[in-house]
Amino acid sequence: MNAYSQLQIDLRQMILAIESAVSLVGMNDTNHGKRVGYIAGQLAHQLGYSDQSVQYAFDLGLLHDCGVSTQQMHSNLVNHFDWQDAHVHCQIGHDLLKDFEPLAQFAIPILYHHTPWEELVDNDISAQDARMANLIFLADRIDILASTHYGIDILLANKEILHSINHFAKHYFDPVIVNAFNSVAGSEAFWIALEDRHIIRYTWDMGQIGNNQPLSISQIKQLSMIMSYIVDQKSPFTAQHSLRVSALAKFLAESYGLMDEQCEKIEIAGLLHDLGKLHTPDNILEKPGPLNELERSIMNEHSYETYEILRQIKGLGEIAQWASFHHECLNGAGYPFHPNKKDLSIEARVIAVADVFQALVQDRPYREGMRISEVVEILENFTQSGKLDQDIVNIAKKNQQECFCIAKGLLEK
Ligand SMILES: [Fe+2]
Ligand SMILES: [Fe+2]
Ligand SMILES: [Fe+2]
Repeated sequence: MNAYSQLQIDLRQMILAIESAVSLVGMNDTNHGKRVGYIAGQLAHQLGYSDQSVQYAFDLGLLHDCGVSTQQMHSNLVNHFDWQDAHVHCQIGHDLLKDFEPLAQFAIPILYHHTPWEELVDNDISAQDARMANLIFLADRIDILASTHYGIDILLANKEILHSINHFAKHYFDPVIVNAFNSVAGSEAFWIALEDRHIIRYTWDMGQIGNNQPLSISQIKQLSMIMSYIVDQKSPFTAQHSLRVSALAKFLAESYGLMDEQCEKIEIAGLLHDLGKLHTPDNILEKPGPLNELERSIMNEHSYETYEILRQIKGLGEIAQWASFHHECLNGAGYPFHPNKKDLSIEARVIAVADVFQALVQDRPYREGMRISEVVEILENFTQSGKLDQDIVNIAKKNQQECFCIAKGLLEK
């Protein structure tokens, strides 16, 4: 592929990637966003909404839990019908999307997607936003009630689910939406379609259709920034890591003399490189000591998980590879693909150096962030042993003070 080709990505491709990333937090309970998207779309269709609103409901369902990045929050979501701190992830999701124009339309319904209907009607949000928020709340709770039955006894359990939803109807849900649910719930197809095999296929098809909103490179960058916030806020020890790696990688790429467009793509790859960490258990990320062999092996899966999310984004091209090669080494000692030296592109090498540099200056659960002299010494050792690219490390050494400030976030305008 031509390294300088234009990026052509449809908005839905990025929405699907956000859903895949958030889905990783669930470990064993994945595809929640996909199912909520499907259910919301079916309910919207039953309610007679326009095709545009049905598509909107589907996208909103995919995105609704984008404020969830810790396992604790996820476990509350799947284990309780209603709980005290539900609003926290609603607020985080809302704040993530509200200033980004193509996704800002989803912010208000996300803010209220756990608010009971009785409270919602007294709120001063538009009738349209209130209905969409409640549609998602209902779709979300249907999936939670059904989640232990998929692939087992969903066609028997659905009666009980219908009963529970109608029991909660008056306080929690708009009676009009509950009526629509009562109608679609009569079809076995509605329930069978929720099983993993089918829901993955359905979502894939919806991705192919897209929503005809091509993104500009600056919008792709902003969306990547949103995704980097989701992963960076998973733990205080990864806070701003992706953001800083991205900024440092861009600086190194520019100093190396790469073209503007290449530098921008490297910046995007830097933002996305650790997305797979959403799959790493919190207790491993935050362990206050060195990892044992098993924990290390689980931790090391994350760059492959990054690849699995990014390769699904139609049009992202080589950025997916640069990002997921960030733990590869020139001497083959990295992971998980072990590419030949000649296949480890300059872009991937830049990101690898930026990643090591930033990780060393950042506090870790078991050590404080290092001083610049220690960082330079370690980088030098890594080039001697054939892990990192000598030319890129030389640039980092030559500009060590500036690199240090970028990696620490001390140059914020
Ligand atoms: Fe939620
Ligand atoms: Fe949810
Ligand atoms: Fe990483």
